[in-house]
Amino acid sequence: MSRFPADFVWGTATAAYQIEGAVAEDGRGPSIWDTFAATPGAVVDGSTGEVACDHYHRVEQDVALMQQLGVDAYRFSIAWPRVLPTGTGQVEQRGLDFYRRLAETCLDRGITPWATLYHWDLPQPLEDRGGWLSRDTAEAFAEYAALTHDALKDVIGHWITLNEPWCSAFLGYGNGVHAPGRTEGVGSVHAAHHLLLGHGLGLQAMRANGGHDQQLGLTVNLYSVRPASDSVVDAEAVRRQDGLGNRLFLDPVLTGAYPADVLADTGTTDWFAERADDLAAISAPVDFLGINYYSRHTVAGPEDGVFADPTRATASWGSENVRTVDTGAAKTDMGWEIHPDGLVDVVAMVHERAPGLPVHITENGSAWPDEVGPDGTVADHDRVAYLQAHLDAAAQAVGQGMALRGYFCWSLMDNFEWAFGYSKRFGIVHVDYETQQRTVKQSGWAYRDAVAAARG
Ligand code: FCB
Repeated sequence: MSRFPADFVWGTATAAYQIEGAVAEDGRGPSIWDTFAATPGAVVDGSTGEVACDHYHRVEQDVALMQQLGVDAYRFSIAWPRVLPTGTGQVEQRGLDFYRRLAETCLDRGITPWATLYHWDLPQPLEDRGGWLSRDTAEAFAEYAALTHDALKDVIGHWITLNEPWCSAFLGYGNGVHAPGRTEGVGSVHAAHHLLLGHGLGLQAMRANGGHDQQLGLTVNLYSVRPASDSVVDAEAVRRQDGLGNRLFLDPVLTGAYPADVLADTGTTDWFAERADDLAAISAPVDFLGINYYSRHTVAGPEDGVFADPTRATASWGSENVRTVDTGAAKTDMGWEIHPDGLVDVVAMVHERAPGLPVHITENGSAWPDEVGPDGTVADHDRVAYLQAHLDAAAQAVGQGMALRGYFCWSLMDNFEWAFGYSKRFGIVHVDYETQQRTVKQSGWAYRDAVAAARG
């Protein structure tokens, strides 16, 4: 008997800027990632998404590949600057047409399209007017979500507003390692609020559009966090990391309230009090929650036991006062520790707050320094092992009665890994960036076999 229900969703995931290329085609405007990648030193190998996997010109081939792998859903993202080149106002029909063709190609091959509206590529003109530090960007997002959903709801039924608002807020505006590369300290907490508000307003607008069988949700990255010891200081480190990493996002969306301790830590209690009315939109019911899960953190407090000024806690992606401890567990090529059981922890976080709310793992995967061997195959045994261990964890969550309903492997193919450029490979399909040749790795075939076995 299968460990997964018959209607469990099996997918692969990608994001626009990481795979599409064609950055200046069909009227696309510049995004913060075009600007950031062109900034010397921002991306380790000096690369950009200008060509990436050239997916923009290879839709047929890439969707055919997914069919070969036997997946039944494809999570991709829609590039806001293809639809609204300056962020608001003038719509670029060719941008919408591209995503219609992508969705139709999926449907023709029996693959359900899942669209993410914002996977980090904010139109540059909106950043020039304040980006996510400005409330106007939340309203601009709602306008973009509403018109894109209305234009494509006949071919796309699954919609994710934002991908990982934690990353947009804290990597984008906290430590600046992602676009737009700003270091705004506590401003990054304001960015988190505007992102969540954008999610809420966008969701409301899409609901108002109606449409047949629409499933609307949000994807967050959650951290399974454990203390390095049973000391009081390490427990405090867990509270802080769990606060900014998980509760700041889960609580307002699922329970309608921000965590008071996190607002106090960051000195934002008054700022949030003035915006209390936004919580109605932010907590509007979602049809599902997406979780991206990669690793678990084991944390400790400062060596001297003294937590520095907590209002500076966001200067370093939310955890200046928190140290991540090496547990000795095996690590991927990203240096991320491998802890499959953390996947069960993060699904449980949603289950505790919203029992029965459908959850999908919208990303899970690992980077390894893959090479195509002399026989033309990619023997990525480490990725196969990572995949199987995490599918076992997913089965465990299902077995424990949690409403885990789907799993999307990150990623369909190797791609532009943000600040790491092309130096990290996450695909279950190898991409030769010189020739754009795709080669299914052993993990791709292993995923196909696992999906087939799960279907029974
Ligand atoms: C996630 C991102 C995704 C990819 C993976 C490795 O944080 O959503 O685009 O970069 O990490």
